[in-house]
Amino acid sequence: MSEIEKNYEDFISTVSHELRTPLTSIRGFSQTMLSSWDKLDDESKKRFLKIIEDQSNRLINLVENMLSVTRISGGRENLIFKEINVKPVVETVVSILKNQYKNKNFQIEINEKTPPILADKDKFQQIITNLTENAAKYGDDTSPITISTEFCRNCEFVAIKISNYGIEIKKEDYERIFTKFSRIDNPLTRKVQGSGLGLYITKNLVEKMNGTIGVECKAEGSGRFLTQFEVLLPAADIEKQARAKCNL
Ligand SMILES: Nc1ncnc2c1ncn2[C@@H]1O[C@H](COP(=O)(O)OP(=O)(O)OP(=O)(O)O)[C@@H](O)[C@H]1O
Ligand SMILES: [Mg+2]
Repeated sequence: MSEIEKNYEDFISTVSHELRTPLTSIRGFSQTMLSSWDKLDDESKKRFLKIIEDQSNRLINLVENMLSVTRISGGRENLIFKEINVKPVVETVVSILKNQYKNKNFQIEINEKTPPILADKDKFQQIITNLTENAAKYGDDTSPITISTEFCRNCEFVAIKISNYGIEIKKEDYERIFTKFSRIDNPLTRKVQGSGLGLYITKNLVEKMNGTIGVECKAEGSGRFLTQFEVLLPAADIEKQARAKCNL
């Protein structure tokens, strides 16, 4: 089998598996509701509908990611660059994810003086969504997920950092997780849904916006790890940024 055929087969088997899981639960819970409507109390009905809604959202995200992958490989990802304020985008993402991950503690630490970046707004939102959702999916329930910003590289770039406490990402996996369909095999990853596309798409989008992305994972004692993803994106206006830094 050629490399292309092998990749194609891997793609089909990952996609089919990923589509089947949410579809199976949507069908299962609708069938249960239809056949046992009179026996179910309102609470259970609500719970079942919530599962159907969550799984439908999962399907929509999955299809959105698939489309991004085909656009990336076909070079058809068109970006519209504008001056973007980081904070409102992060706030939007967190308010959406808060609804989905109710027991998570999201903390936004973004200084009002953070200069605007030059980026495509929708794609920037997709980047923040993918990274923050990963922090929610793979992080501890009790500790905070922090999204913060910093100035760096002589003020030409804004660093956006997303961190969470949880399981380890080993050094040898730092690069691999950004490739297509790669997931780290551990009990948690097996338990939560994912296609292994999020970080691949994220890295592609960041690089198309002339930025960089990296990850670092540090041991925090008693088997806990602090994982931090850092995205550097160009500031929209270097002079504006210099002034902001000096409070002018
Ligand atoms: N914050 C994190 N902590 C620990 N492991 C992580 C974290 N973020 C990503 N990973 C690991 O990297 C892998 C790749 O992440 P990626 O976002 O590309 O895929 P996914 O979350 O599995 O699926 P998708 O994002 O496509 O739904 C994950 O499966 C997980 O093993
Ligand atoms: Mg992901």
